[in-house]
This record gives sequence, structure tokens and C-alpha cells, in this order.
Amino acid sequence: MSEEIERYVIKGGNPLVGEVEIGGAKNAALAIVAASIMTDETVSIENMPDVRDTNVMLEAMQSIGVNVDRIDRHTVRINGSMVKNVNIDTESIRKIRASYYLMGALLGKYKRAEVPLPGGCDIGSRPIDQHVKGFRALGANVDIKGGIVKASAEKLVGAHIYMDVVTVGATINVMMAASMAEGKTIIENAAKEPHVVDVANFLNSMGANIKGAGTDVIRISGVSRLRKCTYSVIPDQIEAGTFMYAAAVTKGDVLIKNVIPKHLESISAKLLEIGCQIQEFDDSVRVAATKRLRPTQIKTLPYPGYPTDMQPQAGVALALSDGVSTITESIFENRFRYVDELVSMGANIRVEGNTAFIEGVESFTGAHIKAPDLRAGAALVIAGLAASGSTVIDDIYYIQRGYEDFDSKLRKLGAHIEVERVNGKVSREDFKVIS
Ligand code: UD1
Repeated sequence: MSEEIERYVIKGGNPLVGEVEIGGAKNAALAIVAASIMTDETVSIENMPDVRDTNVMLEAMQSIGVNVDRIDRHTVRINGSMVKNVNIDTESIRKIRASYYLMGALLGKYKRAEVPLPGGCDIGSRPIDQHVKGFRALGANVDIKGGIVKASAEKLVGAHIYMDVVTVGATINVMMAASMAEGKTIIENAAKEPHVVDVANFLNSMGANIKGAGTDVIRISGVSRLRKCTYSVIPDQIEAGTFMYAAAVTKGDVLIKNVIPKHLESISAKLLEIGCQIQEFDDSVRVAATKRLRPTQIKTLPYPGYPTDMQPQAGVALALSDGVSTITESIFENRFRYVDELVSMGANIRVEGNTAFIEGVESFTGAHIKAPDLRAGAALVIAGLAASGSTVIDDIYYIQRGYEDFDSKLRKLGAHIEVERVNGKVSREDFKVIS
């Protein structure tokens, strides 16, 4: 069936120059809105990104009786006292990976949760065994049947949990449930990502007792009740990093504002290595590039290593560099889906297993391509901005899941990018879970 769909039309070739304001971190916000139902009092969240994923999450919460009040575009008030049931199953909630945070939040507060497993898997196998292991250690029965995860417990009791892999999702989920368990929980080999710390800070503002977030051992003393608070979400490290690469690849000069430079260190270090100039200020970072970029090696790792969500953007930069680079993807196996599209723009990249071998070319030429997933899609936009001629990018709904006003922010920096509405077919079955 044909319907109106959106795509980007980009005329590349001019450097991005100016200032851009970064929004709240999508991945922190998703967990924070879920956790805000753990009190019966009203929680106020500021610096909320207005992106599809967070909006879908808020809609799913409304469907179980949560009161969601949008005060303005970036402020939302949430009251979870009227939750009618702990069984969430909407078409849309299956499309965002972060729906799993409702498990930890509902289980912690009501000792019961029924949440569908996310549908497809675009960036590789994404098991939830560590989430389940953590919930079980806290005393919950967890059953997965017909794509629904059912968890319930008489009571949750603190436990000593060792995560077999470093996982952001399971660390946050278990931390949420353990906040309202009886006694002490220790999570070892915990993820250290900035959004793990942000969610811990949020829960602590609600009266939880969590120590050590940001290190690999998190200690939680359970409390019986959480209370209202006002909280501001941290800036989005990945949105910021994407604009940093956009400046680098277009040989531009961009001041990226409202960031925490410390969270961007691994990205700044790579950009320096490949020949960019980086200036850090208190809450902004300036990226400028004047010469052709240099090649390097990158391996994605848990924080503070180089983020997997910044891997495609780096691939685009290295594909234009002066030499041979390699990128090793060690978190998700299916994150090179931008490579074929980039090759159609003239890049010279060969993927073997989890490594991409990249031989830099002098320039890309515009092409008609599509966004394979959220971050890959954003990276291809950057490629289009650097290419000669016109690039058309289909399937931009992926990009809209995680970037607020991406095209207008780019236009303010001098990019020629427009959203075109055309009649076409949205490959909904392709609209899988990717973040
Ligand atoms: C989150 C981010 C995503 C980012 C990823 C890694 C959200 C909504 N998404 O995803 O953008 O790319 O962190 O920084 O915040 N794993 C298991 N068992 C589990 C859970 C995970 O083996 O139970 C594995 C995964 O397959 C992967 C690794 O652990 O190889 C890291 O995954 P994880 O950190 O959990 O990623 P997400 O939380 O899904």
C-alpha cells in the first residue's frame, strides 16, 4: 500500500560552520521515564528529548494508566499512582528496545511485570539473559512465553549479582528493581556508561540508595518507598558525537553546546588522532577540520571505550581518510549495514567478520540510499553532506527515532538538507528494534 513517506534530500559539499545545541540523552531518558512510575508522587523530568523512541515509551506508559503531562516540548510530568495493570502490550512498544526498562520498574514497585520482548534485531543478537538472571537473583520468577516476559515475586530480596557481560540495559534494569528490594544488592561487572550514572542519580533523587554507579561495582540498599523529584536528563553523548563527526567530515568548524566533554573523551581522542582540532570548554566542545583526515584503528568497547553507537559515523570519516583503517565491532555483530550504502557512494570498504577494512577515498558521490538503522542512518546523512552532488536517503523514520530536529539543526550549520514527502511504501516489517 502506498502512503506518504519522508526522506532526506541532501546537496553535499559545503563545510558545516556554526553552533549547535545538543538535547537530552535518549537512552538515559528512556530509562528515567520508566523509573519515574516507581513512585506514586508526581515526577518532573526536564531536558527530555522529543524523539520518537521516548514518545513511544510515554504512550505505552499512558496505555497502562500512567498520567503523562507534557508541560512543554522538553518537560514532562509523570504520575504512576494510577497504573491499572502491569501488562503492557502495544504494537509500538515492541518496536523499541528500551521497553525492557518497564520490567525493572514494574517489578520493583509492584513485584509483577508482563512486557513483550522487543521484535526484530537489526544490529545483532540482543539477548536479555542478564536481565533475567538479575531479576531471578532478586527472587523473581521469570518466564518467557509467546514473546512476553512475565516476572513476579512475593518479595524482592537484595542479592550479589555478577554480570557475565558488561550490559547497559541489564545493569540499569536490575538497579531499578533492586532499589525497591529488601536489603542490599551488589552488581559486579556493571556497565559504566554515563546514562547508567544518570539513572542512578535520578533514582537517588527519588530517595533510592545507590552507590558506585559509574564504577563496575554498584551497591544498592533497597528502600520501601520512592518519592517525587525534579530531574534534568544529561546531554546526549551520541547526538553530540554525531555532530562532531559531521564537522570533521565536511571540513567544518562547529561549536557543540550543552554537552559534558568528559563523556565525549573517547570520541574527541579519535578525532584528534585523525587530524581534527578539538577545543573543550566547560559545557561545549569545538571541532574543526581543515585538512584531509588521517586513517586509524578503532575498536568498540563498553564505556569509557569507544562507543558502538559512534561506530558508523567513524566509518564514514575513515572512508574519506588518507590511508588504510580498520574498525572492529565488538559489541553488536550486525553494525556494518551502512557499508553497502557507503560503497554505492564510492567508498572502498571490505567487511570480514566483525572487522571493516577501509581504504580511504578522496570523495564520495551522491547516491540514492536508505537508512538501515538509527546510527547507521545518521552516519549516512553525514556521508551525504560530504559527498559531491545529491544524496537521497529513504527510511529516515529510523533516524527520527533518536535525533530531534536533525535536519533543521544541520541546516542552521549551513547544510543543504531537506525533508521531502513522497508517495511510497514504508517497509514497516523493516522497522525493527535497533537502539
Ligand atoms: C544500549 C543502548 C544502545 C547501545 C548499547 C551499547 C539503549 C536503549 N540502547 O543497548 O544504543 O548500542 O547499549 O552501548 O540504551 N547482552 C547479553 N545479555 C543481556 C544483555 C546484553 O549478552 O542480557 C550483550 C549484548 O548482546 C551486547 C552487549 O551485551 O553484545 C551489550 O549490550 P547492552 O549494553 O545491554 O545494550 P543495550 O542495553 O541493549
